[in-house]
Amino acid sequence: MPPFSAVFDPPATEPLLAADSAEAVASEARAGLTSTPKRLASWLFYDKAGSHLFEQITTLPEYYLTRAERSIFTAHADEIVQAAAGRPRQTLTLIELGAGTATKTGILLSAAVQLQGTVVYQPVDVSVTALERARRNILSNLPGVAVRCQVADYTREPLPENRLPNTRTLALYIGSSIGNFTPAEARGVLRNLRAQLLPDDQLLLGTDLVKDVPTLLAAYNDAAGVTAEFNRNVLERLNRELGADFNSEAFLHKAIWNAEESRIEMHLESTCAQRVHLPASGAGRALTLRFAPGETIHTENSYKFTRSSVESLLGDAGFRASRTWNDSGNLFSVTLATAV
Ligand code: AVI
Repeated sequence: MPPFSAVFDPPATEPLLAADSAEAVASEARAGLTSTPKRLASWLFYDKAGSHLFEQITTLPEYYLTRAERSIFTAHADEIVQAAAGRPRQTLTLIELGAGTATKTGILLSAAVQLQGTVVYQPVDVSVTALERARRNILSNLPGVAVRCQVADYTREPLPENRLPNTRTLALYIGSSIGNFTPAEARGVLRNLRAQLLPDDQLLLGTDLVKDVPTLLAAYNDAAGVTAEFNRNVLERLNRELGADFNSEAFLHKAIWNAEESRIEMHLESTCAQRVHLPASGAGRALTLRFAPGETIHTENSYKFTRSSVESLLGDAGFRASRTWNDSGNLFSVTLATAV
């Protein structure tokens, strides 16, 4: 095993957000709000306020996803890690895409430490702040883990090249984050990952499952209104960062089930005829956006999967599903797949 040194110790500074530079936010807002129908990309949710609201969402009674996935890890972490290590057993390095604060990952890391004594963990995220929190979390709770943070946007950039010799990579892509991409985008993300792996490397993919519609709708329409606040925060973000003048209270949070596409959609619906001013920025001139009563901005897709849709997505991206674990309510699944 290599010595326990982080290849990158994130500094205690403001987030270094490769994906959401001011320029990227402005160009996404301009493109989305001038298209028909209007849309905003869901990565815009995750500024500091939005990330905080998302953390609250994961603890809501209606938002079963995080609890269900955690229960799978709690019940099966040893099996998962052993299956990933294979026979004869290979030493695993764990990489996590979009690691965020890596709260659930500790369960898998602990199982890996149990199995092999020590483990190298490489969280990949665009946010240095999130990586710093992940690193602190893991280092204080799991002394057998060497954390090597990697700042990268895994959706667009290749993963940093620093493979350890004689190890097998176990890539974690959990939380059903894959569900926030269209099927074509999801294939692209997984193919990009596959291109960085060797045959027999492993992927653990967390996916939310298709289920009864009331349960799905409740998860995106919580009684406390946190998801509504999360959704409207995207407009507040455009006010803060671009100087727009959205009255976010004049937009209703809507979550609907699109059965044909197998996805929950989130929208913001204008309650009245209104105009919003978006000041000039960079090469973009000032815009006046007009909203009719009832007009919507599409802000998120959250795709829901079946076992066969997960298997075919993995197959299309160069992986073969080998084992699947579900929670006791069959709400969520975690699939182990081999790079072929
Ligand atoms: C991050 N992602 C998997 C969440 C989801 O469920 O699609 C984002 C979210 N949107 C509303 N609530 C949670």
